[in-house]
Amino acid sequence: MAKQQTWGGRFSGGPAELVQEYTESVSYDRVMYAQDIAGSRAHALMLAKQGVLTDEEAALLVNGLETVKAEIERGEFVWRRDLEDVHMNIESRLTEIVGDVGKKLHTGRSRNDQVALDFRLFVSDRTRVWQGLARSLVAALLEKAETYRDTLLPGCTHMQPAQPVSLAQHLLAYAAMFQRDVSRLQDADKRIRVCPLGAAALAGTTYDLDPSFIAGELGMNGIFQNSMDAVSDRDFAAEAMFCGALIMAHLSRLCEDIIIWANPAFGFVLLPDGYATGSSIMPQKKNPDVAELMRGKTGRAYGALFGLLTTIKGLPMTYNRDLQEDKQPFIDQDRTISMSLEAMAGMIGELAFSRERMAAALARGFLNATELADYLVGKGIPFREAHHLTGAAVALAESEGKGLEELGLEALRSISGVIGEDVFAVLDMKNAVARRNTPGGTGPDPVAAQIAAVKAWLAKS
Ligand code: ARG
Repeated sequence: MAKQQTWGGRFSGGPAELVQEYTESVSYDRVMYAQDIAGSRAHALMLAKQGVLTDEEAALLVNGLETVKAEIERGEFVWRRDLEDVHMNIESRLTEIVGDVGKKLHTGRSRNDQVALDFRLFVSDRTRVWQGLARSLVAALLEKAETYRDTLLPGCTHMQPAQPVSLAQHLLAYAAMFQRDVSRLQDADKRIRVCPLGAAALAGTTYDLDPSFIAGELGMNGIFQNSMDAVSDRDFAAEAMFCGALIMAHLSRLCEDIIIWANPAFGFVLLPDGYATGSSIMPQKKNPDVAELMRGKTGRAYGALFGLLTTIKGLPMTYNRDLQEDKQPFIDQDRTISMSLEAMAGMIGELAFSRERMAAALARGFLNATELADYLVGKGIPFREAHHLTGAAVALAESEGKGLEELGLEALRSISGVIGEDVFAVLDMKNAVARRNTPGGTGPDPVAAQIAAVKAWLAKS
């Protein structure tokens, strides 16, 4: 049996070693030290404003908290597992520094509302970092899109060649995803940054507290609506982690494109050395490990979300110790997302695309078949029939090992007499892309408009 705990007034013995190890959270929740100290500072100032503490007492606490913070940041702070969590570690050291007044800090507060506050601030701070990293990734995608706005490649559906598109259009599709991710995080932040302090253990408190003052001090959007909900609500973390899971989904799709493009059978892109590895047995290999790992880590990030959702499921009111299991999934997902976003932005910045290989791929796969069908429609043939006739043209070209544009006029006229010399301009891939000038399309005008819009989005904070 170890010595008495902070909460041990009614206990005659301390917890067994194993139990201490089982129940502690300081080994990981110490990452929230800055948020814990900021919350305690705001709480002390509020207590003084409300006349619960004197101004001198609050000043001692605030200075003491600063000293604790400096000790932590200098690496001098001794974290004690027997003090369970970040909150009790900091409060205990504060009391050593400032004396008995340290014991007044927790007036009108419970660890239940304290941990909810710390975690909300931590999740908000970290997801704001995600926003910045996602923005950098959008900037990297935009830069490549501008460089390759005139480069064409086969656009696919069902992973089969469908219609020619510009590489800019393909890359800007990902920019749109990550822009949505940023906007989703901004929206979630409104709900994450709500102050639960003042809910106390579960029922509010008898002290005349002012939660709005604390919210103001901490730059939060408002205060809790119901004390029981405030101490047990982890929706904000689930929402943040859903946003994180979706970021990983988007990254994993981009990884998959890069992996396919880097396969020598495609050869659309050369992997930068810094983002690839060799094989220990096959000397010719250049493996897209970073992209593969990111695709793999997506599963882990989903798992973190599901871990939290499962922890929340069926929890009775109000705070239950189960909720201590909320932090590790977030911390793990945060590391994955932050590193993945940064690595992807770096990798995109260094990708060298092969215009030649993309052009060669365009020449195969009949990507201009839709153009021929639309051309026939323009000559008065109903679309269904035009579709059928184009299919026959494709079969003919395929049997001759040619592209549609390589069939002579005579051969094409054997498919339909309405076909004239003007068909060859229509079958040209560049023209096919240039004609798709509808809003959001792959034509030069909508691509230029997208580039301008993404630039404007990046320019506003
Ligand atoms: N370490 C705890 C957690 O992370 C802090 C809150 C503990 N509250 C309590 N009443 N035991 O949830």
